[in-house]
Amino acid sequence: MVDSVYRTRSLGVAAEGLPDQYADGHAARVWHYYIGDKRSRTDEYRSWILSLLQRHNCHSVLDVACGTGIDSEMLVEEGFSVVSVDASDKMLKYALKTRWNRRKEPAFDKWVIEEGNWLSLDRDINRPGTGFDAVICLGNSFAHLPDFKGDQSDHRLALTNIAGMVRPGGIFIIDHRNYDYILSTGCAPQGKNIYYKSDLTQDISTSVLWVNNKPHMVTLDYTVQVPTEGESPPELSKFRLSYYPHCLDSFSTLLHEAFGGRCEHMVYGDFQPYTPNQEKAPCYFIHVMKRTA
Ligand SMILES: C[S@@+](CC[C@H](N)C(=O)[O-])C[C@H]1O[C@@H](n2cnc3c(N)ncnc32)[C@H](O)[C@@H]1O
Repeated sequence: MVDSVYRTRSLGVAAEGLPDQYADGHAARVWHYYIGDKRSRTDEYRSWILSLLQRHNCHSVLDVACGTGIDSEMLVEEGFSVVSVDASDKMLKYALKTRWNRRKEPAFDKWVIEEGNWLSLDRDINRPGTGFDAVICLGNSFAHLPDFKGDQSDHRLALTNIAGMVRPGGIFIIDHRNYDYILSTGCAPQGKNIYYKSDLTQDISTSVLWVNNKPHMVTLDYTVQVPTEGESPPELSKFRLSYYPHCLDSFSTLLHEAFGGRCEHMVYGDFQPYTPNQEKAPCYFIHVMKRTA
């Protein structure tokens, strides 16, 4: 487990000295296989997110973890003015490619894509006026930020920087896997994974690092089948990603702090209304924060 930290460090360093877990390009290269069919993924929450954005009169959206660009692309298609940011140039390469391929569509020509890190977001991008109408951070992205100092100060700084991009009256949508369930049972909840549901994912093995009797890092080793030309059997691509296991209550507290308490907070499970202790455990929690002032 500790090995994974050193391994990713040696691969590339993003802003603020943090490891870019995607720096060797392995995960970025097969990310679209891991996601599966793009349209079928975004269909899972397209109408949910569109109606939320419309209800809050949102036109400008900042995607702070755009990765290869899947959610940003959906929002550009839907007519939003989108700024997309990610710390990994290897992931951004694919978002930039999509923008280039669709550059003849005026909406795509205006799509802004920048390299930026949550820990330095206030310096990495320009905030328009009092902020964006909406900020999104989806696909279990925030859990990528480690807690090397052991006091969650980096999590607080990142969330404060991200919350600072939301205008008064605007919203922030952020998710994380249901780590409460994963830590208590040792496995992910049954049920379909809304974001990553390719038939080509062959195996995901999980390990948990505990520090001072607290879960500190969850490492997943992925094996994804990559189709090859002709009759040849698929190749196997392996990559490893590590996550900080945010639990529902403590993450909710961090979010409230990031908005200085000036917020309304709603929690959804797999994009459905969530009730604590409901019978079916969701795979993902989605938090919607509205900045009230
Ligand atoms: C699991 S991927 C999800 C990407 C995309 N949202 C999706 O659902 O496919 C997480 C993304 O978060 C980015 N990321 C991780 N730490 C970051 C940081 N500190 N600042 C900005 N982006 C970061 C990674 O580079 C990666 O592209």
